[in-house]
Amino acid sequence: MKAIVVTDKAAGTAGMMLTERPQPDAARLASLEGANYGDVIVEVHASGFTGNELEWPSTWVDRRGLDRTPVIPGHEVAGVVTALSYGTAGVSVGQRVFGITDWTRDGTLAEYTVVEARNLAPLPGDVDFTVGAGVAMTGLTAWQGLFEHGRLRAGQSILVHGAAGAVGSMASQLAREAGAYVIGSGRASGRQTALDFGAHEFVDLDNDSLEDIGDVDLVFDMIGGNIQKRSAALVRAGGTLVTVTGPPETLPADGLAVDFVVVSDRAQLGEIVQRVRDGRLRTNIGTVSTLDDAVAAFNPTEHVKGKTIIRVRP
Ligand SMILES: NC(=O)c1ccc[n+]([C@@H]2O[C@H](COP(=O)([O-])OP(=O)(O)OC[C@H]3O[C@@H](n4cnc5c(N)ncnc54)[C@H](OP(=O)(O)O)[C@@H]3O)[C@@H](O)[C@H]2O)c1
Repeated sequence: MKAIVVTDKAAGTAGMMLTERPQPDAARLASLEGANYGDVIVEVHASGFTGNELEWPSTWVDRRGLDRTPVIPGHEVAGVVTALSYGTAGVSVGQRVFGITDWTRDGTLAEYTVVEARNLAPLPGDVDFTVGAGVAMTGLTAWQGLFEHGRLRAGQSILVHGAAGAVGSMASQLAREAGAYVIGSGRASGRQTALDFGAHEFVDLDNDSLEDIGDVDLVFDMIGGNIQKRSAALVRAGGTLVTVTGPPETLPADGLAVDFVVVSDRAQLGEIVQRVRDGRLRTNIGTVSTLDDAVAAFNPTEHVKGKTIIRVRP
């Protein structure tokens, strides 16, 4: 099968190559031998890749910490189930599905991928595969940051750092729908996008003073670094700083700090896709490319906004 592989961490996305890899073996998957319990094979229709995925340690090693190059990156998928292993529950052959795949195994920038069934949810027939791949990781991350870790409630205020980005635009929409007051942040060029995706107001981090916004109940950080550090002081007593960019160095004086890595969740994927269907949630997809052109798409000559989705099958 055709796949994108990486072998050299230092090369970054410039080291991506389109190549041939062995297609997952349905007969082996179905046998009781090996550790395939719960896996399914998905014929990939659309695949997503997070910008800094090649910097994540899990991209280069398996669960035992052993080198697993050559690696197929990409962990966001929408496609059709073509084979089941023994013990699979909740999906069937021929079913349209979407979800995110294990960080420490080969991913989704390929014609087929192997994924645990529990990481997938049904993708309704009226939701395009491109949208399904675009909303899986971004929607789950936003959902878990807001409602599980941030315990956001109606009437609260939230500061979303990176509100024009792939995750931030999902977080702003979901937070607003939940009845929160949403302040988005980012670069000046992201202002209109952030407002279009639901922010009530916008802080231009290069020109406005972050400290002027006052206290908020929840900071949801998609930027990290100094912005994350300065945000701890903005958390109201009893509030929470939630981040997906690594453990916070500076903690809120009288609140919680949570750094988390998204996990797949079938029920949450169902909530997310229902909102997509009825128009309450829009994906922030900037570029759609083919597998043949994926290496170029992930090495753009100009800065691209929104998520890049690879449409593996037309
Ligand atoms: N832990 C997890 O489970 C998890 C899950 C998903 C994502 N993530 C992480 O979350 C981060 C965001 O992911 P994403 O897919 O949403 O990325 P993205 O689409 O690039 O969004 C990031 C947004 O933040 C803005 N931004 C970045 N640095 C900035 C700065 N210094 N000042 C002002 N604005 C800045 C970007 O603006 P420009 O486009 O202008 O740069 C963009 O609008 C990544 O680090 C990703 O790895 C973690």
